[in-house]
Amino acid sequence: MNTLAVELNDRLSGTTSLELLSDFGKRFFFPKGIAAQSAEATAKASRYNATIGMAFERGEPMILPSLKSSMGDLTAGEAVAYAPNAGDAVLRKLWAEEIRKKNPDLGSARIGTPTVVTGLTNGIAHLADLFVDPGDPVVIPDMFWGNYRLIFETRKGGRIVTYPFFDSDGTFNVEEFRGALRGRREHGKAVVLLNFPNNPTGYSPSTDEVDAIAEAIRDEADAGTRLLLITDDAYFGLFYEPETYRQSIFAKTALLHPNLLTAKVDGATKEDFAWGFRVGFVTFAGEGMTDDHLSALERKLLGAIRSSISNSSRPAQSLLVKLLQSRSHEEEKRRCFELLAARYRTVREIVCARDTAVLDPLPFNSGYFMSFRVVCRRAELLRRRLLDERSIGTIAIKDDFLRIAYSAVDEEDIAPLYEEVYRMASSVATESAR
Ligand SMILES: Cc1ncc(COP(=O)(O)O)c(C=O)c1O
Repeated sequence: MNTLAVELNDRLSGTTSLELLSDFGKRFFFPKGIAAQSAEATAKASRYNATIGMAFERGEPMILPSLKSSMGDLTAGEAVAYAPNAGDAVLRKLWAEEIRKKNPDLGSARIGTPTVVTGLTNGIAHLADLFVDPGDPVVIPDMFWGNYRLIFETRKGGRIVTYPFFDSDGTFNVEEFRGALRGRREHGKAVVLLNFPNNPTGYSPSTDEVDAIAEAIRDEADAGTRLLLITDDAYFGLFYEPETYRQSIFAKTALLHPNLLTAKVDGATKEDFAWGFRVGFVTFAGEGMTDDHLSALERKLLGAIRSSISNSSRPAQSLLVKLLQSRSHEEEKRRCFELLAARYRTVREIVCARDTAVLDPLPFNSGYFMSFRVVCRRAELLRRRLLDERSIGTIAIKDDFLRIAYSAVDEEDIAPLYEEVYRMASSVATESAR
């Protein structure tokens, strides 16, 4: 094993993080190669900096004039220079402040510095590299973003273990969650992934439910199982009901138990309405993790980044810095939130007024989506018919569920859309009963 990897493992010795690392994770390190030497030179080489593979002219990166003129008020450095492997330092600091501001329950808990990744997908994939060996269990509820399967199972050979998302009251099924964790005890370690607001259901738990979820995690950690909790906070902030817990579950778990490491994955993708920017963040926390432990773990993540994407989009990061520093940022986000919240209320009203014999809505209170259980179990046929005969796009999840992204539909179009969906569902149900 490379001596730098051995050094990082030594620095992590005695922590749950070291126990959780996959074979890949144990072997990984950030080399003292071009990127590290160039970062050092950026800080110190005030005369000539002949380190990095970029072209400069009078101290500024060269930029083609047509590109420059499309880049608004970004300087050449902000537009086309490489960003550091871990991301723009100012952006990382601003995002760390955002995390604290949005999650007051964190208090003064020590957390790592957010590391920039190329969108949340990329962050989750790096975590899968660092923590999942073939056969390792990944515990998620049975309604989940399909890409998890591709990342954890197809890419890494992990084993997704599901439990029923909802209990009979239509709230998060803490008992089944508990059972799914208990079932991993023999394996000794598990990855647990929670995604609220959830894709595809659009559900987020209440404060009481979050407390119960945290208790279940603590109890399993107490029983000796080492856990990596990944919080996928892609849709963070889009909470439409007063009883919903309006922080990331990360705020409750960051320092919950020494046998637990939490990795918060979030980003500008949906939070700042910047889907194509491809800027996400990974932030670690764990009870007993010192600054040195956190920094050693971040060096491993940096190695994973360096060896795959190397670094993330510079112009996107520069624009985000300006956005986060802008005084109207909150207010601008508020306007988008209000639009989405109004759509949510319209959808709620529509589905509450309908009977559930054909389309049974799953509980939803947040995010972009809601899903129907298609009672006749012909969801794919319903999707096809809506598309082919009514030019309406929806997502079928196997034959059981139909997901509707009401976030993507203007408010005045929501009633006609749902009218069509209900009408087509009735027709499909009648035909399949024949
Ligand atoms: C639950 C969830 N996580 C992550 C992502 C992906 O985020 P990104 O586009 O930043 O990779 C999505 C996007 O649809 C999602 O629904």
